[in-house]
Amino acid sequence: MSQSYDVIVIGSGIAGLSFALKVAEAGQRVAIITKKNSAESNTNYAQGGIAAVTSQTDDVEMHVADTLDAGDGLCDEASVREILSDGAASIEELAQRGVSFTQLDDGTVSLGKEGGHSQRRILHVKDVTGKAIEDALLHGIASSANIDTFEHHFAVELITAAKLNQPGADRVLGLYALNTKTEQVETFQSRVVLLATGGIGQVYQYTTNPFIATGDGIAMAYRAGVEVRNMEFIQFHPTAFYSRDSDRFLISEAVRGEGAILRNLNGEAFMERYDERKDLAPRDIVARAIDSEMKQTGARHVWLDTRDIPLKKLHDHFPNIYDFCLKQGVALEEDMIPVVPAAHYLCGGVKTNLSGETSLAGLYACGEVACTGLHGANRLASNSLLEAVVMANRGATAVGKYLKTSHAVALELPNWVDGDVRDSDERVVLLHNWDEVKRTMWDYVGIVRSTKRLERARTRIQALEREITDYYWNFKVDESLLELRNMILVAGLVVDCALQRSESRGLHYTLDFTDKDEALADSKVRMSAS
Ligand code: FAD
Ligand code: SIN
Repeated sequence: MSQSYDVIVIGSGIAGLSFALKVAEAGQRVAIITKKNSAESNTNYAQGGIAAVTSQTDDVEMHVADTLDAGDGLCDEASVREILSDGAASIEELAQRGVSFTQLDDGTVSLGKEGGHSQRRILHVKDVTGKAIEDALLHGIASSANIDTFEHHFAVELITAAKLNQPGADRVLGLYALNTKTEQVETFQSRVVLLATGGIGQVYQYTTNPFIATGDGIAMAYRAGVEVRNMEFIQFHPTAFYSRDSDRFLISEAVRGEGAILRNLNGEAFMERYDERKDLAPRDIVARAIDSEMKQTGARHVWLDTRDIPLKKLHDHFPNIYDFCLKQGVALEEDMIPVVPAAHYLCGGVKTNLSGETSLAGLYACGEVACTGLHGANRLASNSLLEAVVMANRGATAVGKYLKTSHAVALELPNWVDGDVRDSDERVVLLHNWDEVKRTMWDYVGIVRSTKRLERARTRIQALEREITDYYWNFKVDESLLELRNMILVAGLVVDCALQRSESRGLHYTLDFTDKDEALADSKVRMSAS
């Protein structure tokens, strides 16, 4: 038996929650399916803030220009203008939902600065902006009678008309989700499904992303034949706290916005050799500069020097970062922070239009899983929270129209059929493959690429793909198997797209084609057989 809703939302970060609230307010019955507890998301860890034009001295056209400049010729200018124009209204809405953006002593809103922005325009809640947004949205969800939340439910696969051999145009009919508490796969039926599953950071050995970021939404969409693009554009954040294990706590770019300076191990403020904007150049430039400094000196990290920032500023604006560093033995007023780049954000993803519609009827996507054309080849800092909330609102409006024009499915969806063998001796292979995909991506598909490295990665990922496919069809599914299967798939898509791009642009830098080729447009992934 399936459970039936007007709208199903997969994911409970800023995109999924904002969208769910909107469609529920329009009277739809909504299910939110989320694989951990509701708060666990990239959103919850966002630090720097949300970019929008709210000051008299700023202008949407300046925000557009900065976004296009960072995007290195691959943004869709019309999408950029439309999305950024909705910025101030979306901020106002977040404030109405209970987000208290930090204010200055004079009562005006505090605006931070980050790389690539020509103006101060980052609204923030100290350095825990994401958590403040997540808390406010979850509060709204808890008060809505129209929303059921299914925590610890892992969305496994979309159900489509084509997969069920239904006549007529293909469309989404629902999905299968694994209840990770009962270990049963449940069937959900709906004419509308929103993918809001976030990014893919966990595909890399070192990432700022939490464990949820395994690319599940992109993998599901791809397997359903939905268009996916620009997967090669992986943003590496320049400054994650360096430690010997693989954890990478983010040191917000906003810290550089307040005057912190990158230094190599000789103490040199090296960014002036790379870009006139120095430490506040766009992220691709700063991350490559750090990579180059580390390679030249054989160092494991560079330093971030915060010692000239007034202590009160550090305490007021960055209490979370200050406390974290202190626990690691680094006092920001006296010591420098050891930092390294880490995989942070995916600029590509499931292709959507400005209504959040994908190439499959009834399937919508917004947030980091989606590719709207806003970010191009490199996202401007703090544009992602903004894009997620703006696109959630636009998507919700489009869904209202779709529900009025599409008809319900007169069909009982089939139940999930499980593999029935479980061989615990083989489980160690999963762990091994998990490590291998992450290491392969880090070593061969990182900040600086080459055709040889990418081909090496492709060979390894293809071997992993064969192994995991065999596993998937022969064993009862569980969360780690499903995540690994998705990670291997999206890793393959990143490599495929990277191999297509015979130029260096934005976040994709390859030693074999160091110049930009103006004739190259968006990359597309090979289409799935099933
Ligand atoms: P997420 O917030 O990642 O939510 C995804 C949701 O989907 C989660 O609930 C997850 O559990 C669920 N999910 C995933 N797969 C499944 C599945 N198979 N089944 C069910 N549920 C699933 N951006 C900014 O603009 N400003 C910042 O200051 C900023 N700081 C950042 C700091 C850090 C440390 C990180 C990691 C990112 C930061 N970003 C920032 C990026 C930004 O936070 C994310 O791009 C944004 O939060 C993504 O929101 P989302 O709703 O699309 O996805
Ligand atoms: C940060 O605070 O540096 C992260 C901002 C972002 O990813 O947009």
